[in-house]
Order: sequence, then C-alpha cells, then structure tokens
Amino acid sequence: MSVTSLQHVALAVPDPEAGKSFYSDFRLEARVRDKQIAMRCPGGDRDQVILIEGAKRKLHHICFGTAADRLAGIQEKAEKSGARLVDAPAETPGEGIWFADPDGILINIRVADAATPAGGPNPSKPEAPLKINSPGQFERLGVRAAPARGRACKPLRLGHMLQFTPDFDGKLHFYTDVLGFRLADKVGATAAWLYCDGGSDHHVMAFAATGATGLHHLSFEFANVDEVGQGARQLIEKGHRNGWGFGRHVIGSNYFHYVRDPWNSLVEFYCDMDYIPAGADWEVRDWPEEDMLYAWGPDLPDDFLTNFEALED
Ligand SMILES: [Fe+2]
Repeated sequence: MSVTSLQHVALAVPDPEAGKSFYSDFRLEARVRDKQIAMRCPGGDRDQVILIEGAKRKLHHICFGTAADRLAGIQEKAEKSGARLVDAPAETPGEGIWFADPDGILINIRVADAATPAGGPNPSKPEAPLKINSPGQFERLGVRAAPARGRACKPLRLGHMLQFTPDFDGKLHFYTDVLGFRLADKVGATAAWLYCDGGSDHHVMAFAATGATGLHHLSFEFANVDEVGQGARQLIEKGHRNGWGFGRHVIGSNYFHYVRDPWNSLVEFYCDMDYIPAGADWEVRDWPEEDMLYAWGPDLPDDFLTNFEALED
C-alpha cells in the first residue's frame, strides 16, 4: 500500500518571480497557471516544482503518486493514524487525497505512474549513456569524451527531497506506516533515507532531525557525472551561490553537487544513485555519523546542515 513516486513539491515563497528566475537558470521550464508558477524538466510531462506566493519561504505541499488500487488503502491508513482529510487548497487545486503529516506539512496523494520502473521505460532515460574507459575495459575507442563548455545540462526528473523535522520518530512512523515507504538506511535518530516498496532510487524522501521543520534540498537526476559537475558550474556562473560539491555520497552512492536557491535551501544535481528493486533483500544499515554525508568531496561547508527557515522565525 505504498506511494510509488514523488510527483512534485510546492513551495510558498515571498517572491515567486525570484524562484522562477532561479529554477529557469537551473533549466526547469515555467508555466504560469492562475496564481501558480509550475516548473517542469525540459520535455517532461509533469510539474516538479510549484511556486506560489506566501509571507515567508515554506513547504506548501508534497505530492506523491500511487496506483489506483492503492489510494483507498492509503486513505484508510491516514485516517486511522489520526490524519484528517482536507480539501485541496484553493491556490493549488488538484485531484487525489489531501492530509497533513505529523509536522503539519500538507500531503497530496494522487494516481500516477511510478517514475522509475526498473528495467522498464524510464521517462528520465538520457539519449546516450556516458561511455567510460576503465583499466583493461574500454567502452570508448578513438572518440573524445570531454563535453563542450557551453553545453546545456538538463535536469531529467525530481528524484528526492530532504526535510528537516522536529519529530523524527513521528515522521518516520508516518511515512512508513501510512505512506508505505521503507527505510533504506539511517544514522541513529539523526537522519533517515526512505524508498518506495515497489522499487525506486535508494531514497525518494529523507529526514534530518532538527528543532524545526524546513526544506533542506530538492534533488534532480542528471544523466551522468559531466552533467552534474558542469550543470552546477553553469548555475554558479549565473550568479547563484555554491552549496557543496562535487562529491560522492556514501548513503545512496550518488555523485552530488548542491547550489543554494534564493531562500538558502539547496537544489542538488545527482546521478548514479543506488536502486532498490521491488522485493529486494535490502540490508538497512545504521551508519556512523562520519559516513552520513560523503565518501569524498570538498570540505563540508559550515552552513551545509543549517535550517535557514528556522533562523527566520
Ligand atoms: Fe540528496
């Protein structure tokens, strides 16, 4: 009875035009609909980030997809957990069911196809996979590999997000018991990474325990390491602030580079994440703190784990 995909994240922000400008520099494509600015990946068929005007930066809602025959079961579990179903907000009308999670974050579940069926058609599949030469194993002979400097690097899909939470246990319980996520890995009661039980990236949702709610990062998949490194470089050259990278995570194994958005949350460029298929015998690990963030990369910036939303209160 699980959700099967992360569809979009809606943010209330004091200046939606600044968000539109940032995410356009990131190469999402904007459509203005009534009071919403809806942003999609190039060529994508679904909204990934929705911006609406609000007094301060805040998560407005998170939309997950599920199969038609699972929706009623999720609704029943939500109501049993004490969550009360509400109408879709007037500023972001939409189908499906709506209720708040233990932090008061509005959740929308609607019927949609899974984002990354393993072995099946993948809407984010790049046209030509990168060919990498390894010692004794040559994937590329007589051909240059370095990309042109000005090449457009394209976000393929919204892969996951990380939320700060003041109620780590409650949040974890709700996301696993009600929404049907499974725990992939954790660092004690400090951080947790969750995947969809029908098969998904190593994490589609992650939590970090802090004193207040907040958005740490939204993460988009790119085709390969060149797109991650070069795409982040291009965004920084457009005047946006470097967050952290280029490096490789331990948990999820993905290559990463983070850039700050106008409200000091982060957008992550990632590629090559571990994938957990349906029915996998996945061993959950409780990692030491030293492995929480990276296998290698530049020194960790002091403010990387700062909850800037909490600083505004
Ligand atoms: Fe991430």
